[in-house]
Amino acid sequence: MKQVNFALIIIAIQAVAAFWRMPCRGAVGLARLDPLVNPGEVSQHVHSIHGSSGFGDNATYEDLVSAECTSCGVIQDKSVYWAPTLYFRHADGTYELVEQVGGMLNYYFLYNDDANPSSGIKAFPAGFRMIAGDSLRRNYSVAGLDVKQADPEKSIWAMLGQTGQDDLQQRALGFNCLNYQRDPEGSLYRHYLPDKSYLDANCADGVRFEIMFPSCWDGKNIDSHNHKDHVAYPDLVMNGRCPKGFNVKLPGLFYETIWATNAFVGKDGEFVISNGDLNGFGYHADFMMGWDVGFLQTAVNDCTNPSGRVEDCPHFTLQSEDEQRQCKMKLPSMLGNEKVAGVVGNSLPGNVQIQYGPGPATVVNPGPPTATVAVPTVSYSAGTQPTDTVYVPGQIFKELSSSTVAPAAPSSSSGSSSSEGVAALAQPEITPAPEPPAPVDDGYEIIRTDYVTEGNLVNMIIVKEKIEYVTIMTTTYTSTTTVPALNARHAGHMHRHARRHRR
Ligand SMILES: *[C@@H]1O[C@H](CO)[C@@H](O)[C@H](O)[C@H]1NC(C)=O
Ligand SMILES: *[C@@H]1O[C@H](CO)[C@@H](O)[C@H](O)[C@H]1NC(C)=O
Repeated sequence: MKQVNFALIIIAIQAVAAFWRMPCRGAVGLARLDPLVNPGEVSQHVHSIHGSSGFGDNATYEDLVSAECTSCGVIQDKSVYWAPTLYFRHADGTYELVEQVGGMLNYYFLYNDDANPSSGIKAFPAGFRMIAGDSLRRNYSVAGLDVKQADPEKSIWAMLGQTGQDDLQQRALGFNCLNYQRDPEGSLYRHYLPDKSYLDANCADGVRFEIMFPSCWDGKNIDSHNHKDHVAYPDLVMNGRCPKGFNVKLPGLFYETIWATNAFVGKDGEFVISNGDLNGFGYHADFMMGWDVGFLQTAVNDCTNPSGRVEDCPHFTLQSEDEQRQCKMKLPSMLGNEKVAGVVGNSLPGNVQIQYGPGPATVVNPGPPTATVAVPTVSYSAGTQPTDTVYVPGQIFKELSSSTVAPAAPSSSSGSSSSEGVAALAQPEITPAPEPPAPVDDGYEIIRTDYVTEGNLVNMIIVKEKIEYVTIMTTTYTSTTTVPALNARHAGHMHRHARRHRR
């Protein structure tokens, strides 16, 4: 007889300063397009594109807002969010797209400018666009620091002379090693993509790419020549003081994408970002504003529920995850039928070559690589708890000191692995996860996660099950633990189907 055990874990997280997170479960396209860098042309490398179906090789604000649909969760959001994709280069030289798990999550952090806290936060103006990161960068150059070292305490960044825009831009990148069996790393903790052996050994649930955009604006220009000079980072990347001349505080955009690097465990090869970058120093992302300005300002003013859930903002009109996934853009014919998913051939799409650092990459692809470089590896470190309510790089969301009480754990009759006991709770439909990773150490397998918001708390419920063939009846196991929201939330990406007939 089969025995089914459930471990039901309730995690309570105290939310922090106001924000909302925009889920974009669908991608409108995966293509070599970038209307900011290459208007009217095919772009150098492949991007994963989320948001308005009005996107195109030379899309305008009007194209975005008048489009029929968005692949994000709020229909008033016709913005476009895009970032490079990740490939795996097999030992035989063929490249294969790494699956993206759960679409993209885009945070809108509503932090005031600490230099001028009363000035408030202004909606992005019509036509606003920007780029974060530098596709050509191939090194980490923050003064006096090895990229393998964790960032110094934020309070001394200014004293160390590390609040220049170039430094902040490098600290705005994060590559979070996901392993839901241990305490999560802080966001923006590691500023490079670990190598494959490290990912295989430590990151059982893949890797999360993170990028923070500048949120201080010059108040005048909706774009600039390099798509960066009209904006600047506050001195702690996510929050802090805006530099002189950039006195208008915008919502702080933070993108997250999860890549199922765990599907390649045991295979020889290396991961490479679609722009030919092995280490992640050249990771970057683009944004084109596609909201009605007045509507966005209302949301910025009113959608301050610290849960961060778009469901908790009365102004937003939500759409289902299926609807998000159905929204697709029309790909320009100039792209031909370029294969960008699955095994794509013996080069990255666009024949992008791997370019090693430390000098900057060239835009024109220079031919085959001639050198190899050591990819740095820093060891795991659990994120630290913020001492105030402001969430900053290297930290994780503040959580309650003790867990809340778990609801009655569901039990199951023998012979079934159903988890109906928690079916009443809201369960997001999530992009099917790729290959499940290796079985977890505790012998339990996470089969689903759910979220329940109560006031300022986001409860994440992880349902685990263990299937054994024994003769006794059901037993129930309940435990509590704490996992911070920013990471815990992502457990929702790894919705898996129980392997019901495991032997
Ligand atoms: C892109 O669109 C702008 C504005 O509509 C236009 O001025 C420009 O010529 C277009 N560029 C290309 C390459 O199509
Ligand atoms: C590091 O990268 C920056 C930006 O690409 C570049 O200006 C600098 O020359 C690089 N440093 C070295 C030592 O190559």
